[in-house]
Amino acid sequence: MSTFSAPKGTYDLIPPDSADFLAVREAISAPLRRAGYGYVETPGFEQVELFARGVGASTDIVTKEMYTLTTKGGDELALRPEGTASVLRAALQANLHRGALPVKLWYSGSYYRYERPQAGRYRHFSQVGAEALGAEDPALDAELIILAVDAHRSLGLRNVRLLLNSLGDAACRPAYRAALQDFLRGLDLDEATRERIEINPLRVLDDKREAVQRQLTGAPLMRDHLCEGCAAYHEQVRTLLTAAGVAFEDDARLVRGLDYYTRTTFEFVHDGLGAQSAVGGGGRYDGLSEMIGGPALPSVGWALGVDRTVLALRAEGVTLPTPSPTDVYAVPVGEEARGVLFGVLTELRRAGVAADFAYGGRGLKNAMKSAGRSGARYALVLGERDLAEGVVQLKDLHSGEQAPVALSSAVAEIRAKLS
Ligand code: HAM
Repeated sequence: MSTFSAPKGTYDLIPPDSADFLAVREAISAPLRRAGYGYVETPGFEQVELFARGVGASTDIVTKEMYTLTTKGGDELALRPEGTASVLRAALQANLHRGALPVKLWYSGSYYRYERPQAGRYRHFSQVGAEALGAEDPALDAELIILAVDAHRSLGLRNVRLLLNSLGDAACRPAYRAALQDFLRGLDLDEATRERIEINPLRVLDDKREAVQRQLTGAPLMRDHLCEGCAAYHEQVRTLLTAAGVAFEDDARLVRGLDYYTRTTFEFVHDGLGAQSAVGGGGRYDGLSEMIGGPALPSVGWALGVDRTVLALRAEGVTLPTPSPTDVYAVPVGEEARGVLFGVLTELRRAGVAADFAYGGRGLKNAMKSAGRSGARYALVLGERDLAEGVVQLKDLHSGEQAPVALSSAVAEIRAKLS
C-alpha cells in the first residue's frame, strides 16, 4: 500500500474485473457501429458556460456537481459532467451539420460529477453514448432505443426495464409548466422546493421524498397537455418500438436531470441496483443547438452508464466469457535457452498467438506454476539439452501430455494446434 489511495467516490479498474468493463463498452458500441455511428472524442473539460447553458443553469449537475477550475490564463473550465453538450459543440465546430443529416456519433469516456458517493454513484464514472444530430424523425428515436436494448440483450441482461415519456416541445410545454406551477404552489412544501417550482417545476415531480410524492397525486401530467404534433410523434415512437419487439413502460412522471430534453425521453432501469437504478437514459433535445449558439438542429441521443451496467450484470449473475489472454506460456531453463525462447515468443506473438514468458529468472517449478495460473493451453519449455538437440518441449496444460517439437517449426505447429 502506498501513502495514497484513489480519491473519494472513485475506484480503480484492475484485472480481472477491468475485462468486464472493456466487454461492456464493446457490447454497447458494437450495435452503434453497425448502424452507421462514427466515433467522436472530445476533451475531458470544456468551458463552464457550455454546460451551464446546455445542461441547464438550475440543474443539480450545474449548481452542485460540476468540478470547475480557473486556469492560469483565466478561463473558467469544468470537467465534463456529461457528453451531449460537448459532442454537439464539437459537431457544430467541425460544421458536420452542413453535410448529410443526421450526423450519427458515438463516444465512450469518463465523466465527473461531485455527487454524494454511494453504491452505483461515483464522482468519476464511465459512459458509452450515442447522438444523432439534425433529424426530427420518430424512427431515429426508435433506432437509438432499439440499439440500446440490443446492447443489453447481447450482454445477456434480462431485467432492464425501459421507461418512456414525452416532455413536449416549445409549443406545448410552457402551458403545461404554468399548469404544473399552479398546482405545486398550492402544496405544503419547504422553502427550497418552493423556489424550485418557480425555476424548474418539472424537477419537483422527481422529488423522491415520501411527503412530497404523496402530495403529487393528481398533479397535471405532460402527457395530457401534449400538442397534436408531439402526441402524434410520441405515438409513432411507441408503435415502432412495439413493432421491434421492444417492451416499454409509459412513465408520465419521468423527468430527467438535464434541462435540454424535448419530446421523447427515456430511462433504462435495473431493479437489482438499489437506489441508483438507472443504467442509462436519454431523449430528444431539439433546442440544445440553439441554446449553445448553433442553428436549429433537432437531435436525439442516449448515454449508458458502464459502471452500473457491470453492476447489473453482477446482480443478475451474468458472467461474461473472458477468453484466456494467453495461449502459450514460455518457460526457459538456463541463460542460453532464455535468449532463444524469447526469440520464439516474439515470433509467436507476431504470428498472432497470445503468448507470455516466465520473466524474472525463477526456477522451473515456480515458472510452471505461473504457466498454470496464466490460463494458457500450452507451456513451451526449453532447456539446455533441448537446445543442443534443436527441439523445444510442448506441454499441453489441459491433458498434461508433453512432446518435443523442432525449434524451427514450433511456431507453425503451435498455430496449427490452436486453430
Ligand atoms: P444521465 O442520465 O445523466 O444522462 O447519465 C446517463 C447514465 O450515466 C445514467 O443512467 C447512469 O447509468 C450513468 N451515471 C450518471 N451519473 C453517474 C454517477 N455519478 N455514477 C455512476 N454512473 C452514473 C446523460 O448524461 C445524458 N448526456 C444522456 C443523453 C445523451 N441524453 C441525450 N443524449
